[in-house]
Amino acid sequence: MKWSPEIHAAPPRPQPLIWEQLPFGRVFSRHLAVARYEEGTWHRPRIQPMAELPLHPGTSALHYGQALFEGLKAYIRPDGTRFAFRVKDHWQRLNHSAERLAMPPVPYELFMEMLLTLFRMEEDLSPPDLSYALYIRPVYFATDPWLGVRPSESYLLLIYLTPVGPYYTGKVRAYVETEMSRAAPGGTGHIKMAGNYAGALLSGKKAQQVGCQVSLWLDAQHREYIEEFSTMNVFVVMKGPRLITPPLKRGTILPGITRDTVIYLAQTLGIAVEEQEISIYELIEGIVHGKVREVFGTGTAATITPLQALHHEGKLWELPPTHPIAEELLKAYREVLRGQQKPAQSDWIWPI
Ligand code: COI
Repeated sequence: MKWSPEIHAAPPRPQPLIWEQLPFGRVFSRHLAVARYEEGTWHRPRIQPMAELPLHPGTSALHYGQALFEGLKAYIRPDGTRFAFRVKDHWQRLNHSAERLAMPPVPYELFMEMLLTLFRMEEDLSPPDLSYALYIRPVYFATDPWLGVRPSESYLLLIYLTPVGPYYTGKVRAYVETEMSRAAPGGTGHIKMAGNYAGALLSGKKAQQVGCQVSLWLDAQHREYIEEFSTMNVFVVMKGPRLITPPLKRGTILPGITRDTVIYLAQTLGIAVEEQEISIYELIEGIVHGKVREVFGTGTAATITPLQALHHEGKLWELPPTHPIAEELLKAYREVLRGQQKPAQSDWIWPI
């Protein structure tokens, strides 16, 4: 088959993994899937031992940031079935990001063959239950060794796995960023471009200095409407319950696939969902008057993560200590993963 990878196998893992002690994203698969785009076409991919890559110092992605990534997860059910979640949606989003960065699209069959072969070669990586997963990281970047500012003519697509537990292990407080902006209309806030995350790091440092784990970004124009956390989309649970999440229409928010899954799950649970603007002042007022019951973040890495408090302009606004709606949604999410609840579309579950 055209995209069937050329295989160079790696030696076995020297020690078995202790899943309960895994830091997020620090332990890697033994293999790396690599595809190269050159002279107007994708070439046959390779699976090779995970190792450093030789890169020319002029590599354009390092200079001008033509680089993007994806994050998706594969799970194992109690009966041993292995599957990846919403692979096609992640592939589609990768190509939306690529289009915005003037990069060539990645063919579906190439992406799938790289993933499938990689999984088959990493059979020793078996998450013990559904709170653990194989996080799949595709990363796609420009490789022309040239300092001219124009789209590169050569690219690398890498895919590897990292065995993970929860992204956040303790309580999560959010620092409301009121000085810097993450994204503006017409920009790149809606794609998974590497630079979006770099631009958020300084705010992350400020967050840490006041005891927060994540930043909450406001819209660039008014510095008033909440957009997303630096690692997750945001949902607010109002009395009712009623879920509100900021709309994607301004093009400044990542169209999170977990965000979309949560909207579907809420509907199956009979919880109303509205995509509408939420002012930070209304949010704080709602917390003070008990109208806001919960705030949580969603993301592939973080799944569904309840917030403990919001830090805004020097004040800490505590949220209620229980998160029944976030927990109900997480339960429903795990039921879909276990095969106990129907996904919105059958291709959400992609058997490996
Ligand atoms: C993900 O949730 O998959 C992401 O890419 C976010 C990152 C903070 C790990």
